[in-house]
Amino acid sequence: GLATSAALSRRPAMTGAVLRSALPLPPAFQVPLPIPAVLKPVSTGRYEITQREAVLEVLPGFKTPMWTYDGTFPGPTIESRRGRPITVTHRNELPVPTVVHLHGGRSTPESDGYPTDLVVPENWGAMHHGGGHGGEHSGMQDPRAVVTTLTRDYTFPTDQRAALLWYHDHRMDFTAPAIWRGLAGLHIVRDDLEDSLDLPSGPRELPLLIADRSFTADGSLDYPSLDPTLRTTPGVREPYLAGVLGDVILVNGSPWPVHEVDAARYRLRILNASNARHYELEAVTDDGRRLDLVQVGADQGLLAAPVTHQHLPIAPAERYDVILDFASVEVGGRVRILNRLGDGRTRDVMAFRVARTAKDDSRVPAVLANDLPTWQRSDAIRVRDFSLRAGQMNGGHGWVIGGRSFDPARSDVTVRLGDVEVWRLIADVHHPVHLHLVGFQVLSRGGGSPLPHDAGLKDTVSLRPGESAEIITRFDGYRGRYLFHCHNAEHEDMGMMANLEIV
Ligand code: C2O
Ligand code: CU
Ligand code: CU
Repeated sequence: GLATSAALSRRPAMTGAVLRSALPLPPAFQVPLPIPAVLKPVSTGRYEITQREAVLEVLPGFKTPMWTYDGTFPGPTIESRRGRPITVTHRNELPVPTVVHLHGGRSTPESDGYPTDLVVPENWGAMHHGGGHGGEHSGMQDPRAVVTTLTRDYTFPTDQRAALLWYHDHRMDFTAPAIWRGLAGLHIVRDDLEDSLDLPSGPRELPLLIADRSFTADGSLDYPSLDPTLRTTPGVREPYLAGVLGDVILVNGSPWPVHEVDAARYRLRILNASNARHYELEAVTDDGRRLDLVQVGADQGLLAAPVTHQHLPIAPAERYDVILDFASVEVGGRVRILNRLGDGRTRDVMAFRVARTAKDDSRVPAVLANDLPTWQRSDAIRVRDFSLRAGQMNGGHGWVIGGRSFDPARSDVTVRLGDVEVWRLIADVHHPVHLHLVGFQVLSRGGGSPLPHDAGLKDTVSLRPGESAEIITRFDGYRGRYLFHCHNAEHEDMGMMANLEIV
């Protein structure tokens, strides 16, 4: 239910324009890499997070007002253990309603963060219900929505493989600006299988949340927001429609950071938390040598066996678990992580400086996991087709799945609990497609075999322009209302989302 403007009559741009920051940017590879704090439980299995505004120093010397989980960006990391359910109580002290979704989590529908299951601020009713702000809280028109005031308990069974998940805002029509303003954090599930492998751990396991942003002259985040409750940029519709790109690459909330490492193996838990930016990562030494990126895990945990990449494409919301070995780099040397898809400043991502030689007891076993599903095409009781493309949303340009833009009141796909299905997805432009609740395998891409980076159990598959892919999954877990959508966050807000009902 967003505003109309003259821009609506034009075709959406196929790639977003980069928002240029209006302040002096720091040099790359100077700011130390922050590691998000691990959240302490308030009692066994119980966590509390307050969503609130905070002013952070993202760029050295500038103050950036953000929306945060517990006052930091990224939010605190939750570490959970397979088989041990947890409850996270979120308290919303922000000026807008929010929804929390655990991306990659096998959650019950009540805790999955359906986009109309709002947590409204304490004074929201008084502020807004009398005011007639029609479309602004269209999500509240969903008769099935469960709206709570101030707090909500999200309960996670944690009945799933060890994996890097992430939690982020998922409010209908406003997910993209909320994530851009800071509502994202990591959630790491651990289990015994992973512990038995001797992968690099402790300080040699690094979560890396990559996200691009742009800044106005005063250090505020720049965003072409259409939210009438916020600072808006009238007429800026097109970048919103295509996906918003920033010119500053943040890793764990700091611009182009640098991290000191031992000359040893490191385990990089990489998440692309960008709204719309795709990366193709490579690790390059100062003398131009490209180091192997040894992938040991995908979105939903460990691979069956490692896959070695020279460069690794990563779309919004995808995660890659990668071993990078600094043993061949001399002390004092540097390894830069670069983005082959970027130019100028967006080619740089971060750097590692090798500070010392050190003993390394870690290993990368040839067999990592033997618990991966073995779904065959012949197991599928149904094949469904979905096209993801530009289309109409509320009479203007938007994005559609199967010709329709998101409507919480409609049922789009109904599957039976336990069924194996093949879904054929076809895209007009780049669309990272995400399914809630289930992990899937990529069966084919572009009519041929999956690519090396499609290995393992995923929850997000990156369709390149004009490309089709087939995925296979078994819909097990819980009955109820879930979603699938494009994880270009602006595409998602502009209609590219559908209901997935499990019965
Ligand atoms: Cu990352 Cu529907 O979510
Ligand atoms: Cu999700
Ligand atoms: Cu998309």
